[in-house]
Amino acid sequence: MEHLLHRAIRRQDDHLLDLGCGDGTWLLRALEAHGGVTAVGVDISGEGFDHVLSEAARLGLEDRLELHRQDVAEYRSARKADLVLSVGAAYAFGGLLPTLNAAREHLTEDGMLLLGDCFWEREPDAAVRAQQEDGPQKYADLPTTVAQVVADGWTPVYGYTSTIAEWDEYEWCWTGTLARWALDNPEHPDSDRALQMSAAHRTSWLGGYRGFLGFVVLLLRRTPPPASTEVS
Ligand SMILES: C[S@@+](CC[C@H](N)C(=O)[O-])C[C@H]1O[C@@H](n2cnc3c(N)ncnc32)[C@H](O)[C@@H]1O
Repeated sequence: MEHLLHRAIRRQDDHLLDLGCGDGTWLLRALEAHGGVTAVGVDISGEGFDHVLSEAARLGLEDRLELHRQDVAEYRSARKADLVLSVGAAYAFGGLLPTLNAAREHLTEDGMLLLGDCFWEREPDAAVRAQQEDGPQKYADLPTTVAQVVADGWTPVYGYTSTIAEWDEYEWCWTGTLARWALDNPEHPDSDRALQMSAAHRTSWLGGYRGFLGFVVLLLRRTPPPASTEVS
């Protein structure tokens, strides 16, 4: 992600907006690496905000970072962003195209969008597809996904496709962290539920979408309208 941010941040005073920012870690990293950049993160959960904000204060970056606990669909700002991020959060807007529309509203004229979303690496069977597409969001293969983005008026200027090892690391990390917490806190009323959630997710990943679902991050600029052709 750092190398993507490096490509995406063009000016030292760029303003960033992360829609579905998680705990805000990526914005904090961007601020650390790019003095002068300002950033706003919006997430409905707010989980981890306190930790990231205290890290920002420790590093003297607190004046440049705002985190809002809010539904991204309701977030409005008078300030346009030079870079909008939506990484793994397109479902918050109901899918890829509504996310592109929302990003457009928040961007400066020459602003860029860093969009991370899933795609089908291989055609899944009906059960795996149904499991992953149980909400409004539907996925396509990578060429179709990119073609949808291009047809919506965007030009990819960079992209990164996660490797299977990166997916595995991500899944082991979060299922493992949840399981470890449950085992360390057996008296907590949520302990059993956490252990069950971790096991259920691990099973649906290892026995389901592993190797089928891919993840791509696209760095996008808006495609200029075609030059009008003079008719003599
Ligand atoms: C898979 S996480 C990705 C987090 C972060 N972008 C990252 O890459 O680490 C998806 C995030 O979207 C947030 N989210 C989901 N629906 C949302 C909504 N309607 N408004 C704001 N945030 C939402 C979740 O709380 C979660 O933090």
